[in-house]
Amino acid sequence: MREVVTVTPCEDGPLLLRGPFELLTQSGERIDAGRATVALCRCGLSSVKPYCDGSHKTAGFRATSEPEPPA
Ligand code: FES
Repeated sequence: MREVVTVTPCEDGPLLLRGPFELLTQSGERIDAGRATVALCRCGLSSVKPYCDGSHKTAGFRATSEPEPPA
């Protein structure tokens, strides 16, 4: 069975990464996620970036899970 990394945009929330991913800084240094599934902030308000800390909920962040059509 082939293992793949999946990225799931959660409605009004983070990006969920699942699978054998490797998280790197912009300069290529490895970030130890410590688990096989992580939630990455996409609202910009988390105090523990790149991870989600739940701040999107109180901020009322809105985003679909589906791709949005180009403007
Ligand atoms: S998406 Fe959850 S804090 Fe940004």
